[in-house]
Amino acid sequence: MESSRIALPIGTALDRFIKNNQFQFQYASGELSQLLRDIALASKVVNREINKAGLIDIMGPMGSQNSGGEQQQKLDVLANIRFTRALTKGGEACALISEETESYVDLNNEGRYVIAIDPLDGSSNIDVNVSIGTIFSIYRRVSPVGQPIQDQDILQCGAEQVAAGYILYGSSTMLVYTTGHGVNGFTYESTLGEYVLSHPDMTMPERGRTYSINEGSANSFSSAVKGYVQFCKDENYTARYIGSLVADFHRNLLKGGIYIYPATAKDKKGKLRLMYECNALAFIAEQAGGKATDGKTRILEIKPESLHERTPFYVGSKAMVEKAESFN
Ligand code: AHG
Ligand code: MN
Ligand code: MN
Repeated sequence: MESSRIALPIGTALDRFIKNNQFQFQYASGELSQLLRDIALASKVVNREINKAGLIDIMGPMGSQNSGGEQQQKLDVLANIRFTRALTKGGEACALISEETESYVDLNNEGRYVIAIDPLDGSSNIDVNVSIGTIFSIYRRVSPVGQPIQDQDILQCGAEQVAAGYILYGSSTMLVYTTGHGVNGFTYESTLGEYVLSHPDMTMPERGRTYSINEGSANSFSSAVKGYVQFCKDENYTARYIGSLVADFHRNLLKGGIYIYPATAKDKKGKLRLMYECNALAFIAEQAGGKATDGKTRILEIKPESLHERTPFYVGSKAMVEKAESFN
């Protein structure tokens, strides 16, 4: 992994870190930095709202459905508003793709970046005080500024991401991101109102002993997935499944492990969305030395055909993903 020009110590504020690493970005580095700052700021507001979840009336279902036909929670909608507002005001993003909106939002401006976002991931865990997250991907627009947004700007392969990250609202709140030069993690220091560097140059262990999969659907797994799950049991691996992708991914990033959301009878292409769940985590996994595939193909090379496309997702320690693939 390429290191920054000046290695900054643990405790460095996110802003300073971003500034220090601007040279790594081949395009207009100030714009990308501003985008990251906008996302970080919106996440602090969302974090504040999540922490108040039990106190004011923001828990429970909204009574509406999202793009995937799933029940929207009040916090899904609220988080979507917060991130959309921050990114709209910032002016660097020209279009937003969100889990919570059917089509992309054209911001009708001169912005040069397209953002894909899952504003709140793991929403079934909101009401039960379990970790949830936000996932984001940043792309350069392809068509010239000033012209209408086109499909080629929106439906880009994950390999085109210029930055990606997630926020984990867990026992502490963390922002983890990459611009393609390694992965760094920042912990939110609420009394300062700042994200500070806590996990520099994160790497995923080559292998681990934890597998994360919703075994409640095991009857409808393919024989390959069933075979790999049996292998994990034969090896006495530990099963850990939170049901918040960000939280399951983060644990496996730190400790080593594999997360699988395979095709099931209910979800023939799996449940997770390529553009705003899988691509960002695949980019981070690879940057940390891990691997992400759909069981065969590298996630970052899948050309999306629609905004809310789903894909089976295998992500985690490289040796474990390769082992799981060998059962296909
Ligand atoms: P979201 O809340 O954004 O719709 O995402 C939920 C996802 C993901 O976070 C999690 O890993 C997965 O759904 C859990 O699904 P199952 O309950 O089917 O295991
Ligand atoms: Mn999600
Ligand atoms: Mn979501």
